[in-house]
Amino acid sequence: MTKTILETRNLSVEAQGVRILDGINIEFMENQVAAILGPNASGKSTLAKSIIGLSEYEVTAGDIIFEGESILDKAIDERARLGIGYAFQKPPLISGVRFQDFICRVCPSYVNKDVGTTLMSERCMLCTQELYNDFDRLGIRNLALRDLNDGFSGGEIKRSEIFQVLSMRPKIMILDEPDSGLDYDSLKMVGRELRAIKDRGNTTLVIISHHRYILEFLQVDTVYILNKGQLVYTGDMSDIPVLEEKGYDKFLTKVAQ
Ligand SMILES: Nc1ncnc2c1ncn2[C@@H]1O[C@H](COP(=O)(O)OP(=O)(O)OP(=O)(O)O)[C@@H](O)[C@H]1O
Ligand SMILES: [Mg+2]
Repeated sequence: MTKTILETRNLSVEAQGVRILDGINIEFMENQVAAILGPNASGKSTLAKSIIGLSEYEVTAGDIIFEGESILDKAIDERARLGIGYAFQKPPLISGVRFQDFICRVCPSYVNKDVGTTLMSERCMLCTQELYNDFDRLGIRNLALRDLNDGFSGGEIKRSEIFQVLSMRPKIMILDEPDSGLDYDSLKMVGRELRAIKDRGNTTLVIISHHRYILEFLQVDTVYILNKGQLVYTGDMSDIPVLEEKGYDKFLTKVAQ
């Protein structure tokens, strides 16, 4: 039987005193793929950032449950260690931190080591070949020694962001528009990588997107649509062509199941 890995119960969220999410009940199932769609400014990224625990988003009502327990009192790093990964829609540039070192830092084999171990230490050197193979699969080996996102092109930033989250080996991976700004070849590369993760069967994928291409790659199980901070529709992939052809109108009037 399929189990719930993460759910929000009646979740309301504010930022700078303004309500953004309003009573969201949403459920992500273990090892399944969910898509979150919705017009611009409907609250998709806010939902993701509230789930990971970014402090600028205040939960004013409701709860976020991960593997059966509330995570509201857990800090952002604790939530990450529990296995909740998020690839930002607009990742920050971090000068002074090499991409490769960052990856080593978030990799579970590093995180689980004693505090004080230096980067690229013996253990990390053992990983290097594997790491470089991983870089190759997303076509970003050439970025490994550069500062994180510093001077990266739009598509390189997206692929590097996805790679960072993959390296954390999370149980649930929330990807915020992983397809935006990617050319067709990069889209295929990312699609194949995500598809491989789905096929391995031990990760839940939540894809926030405006386009069907990446969703078709993954064969999404459940499609959720947000509008004005509310969950207004729950359906499946068969809705996507209609959505593409007719826009959101038809869906925004329907009540979430
Ligand atoms: N930190 C913040 N402070 C104030 N307002 C915010 C903050 N974060 C988000 N908002 C507002 O909340 C609304 C929802 O934003 P959000 O980024 O969640 O939308 P979205 O559905 O991801 O849109 P898009 O498809 O354009 O990425 C917007 O009106 C946005 O301006
Ligand atoms: Mg967004």
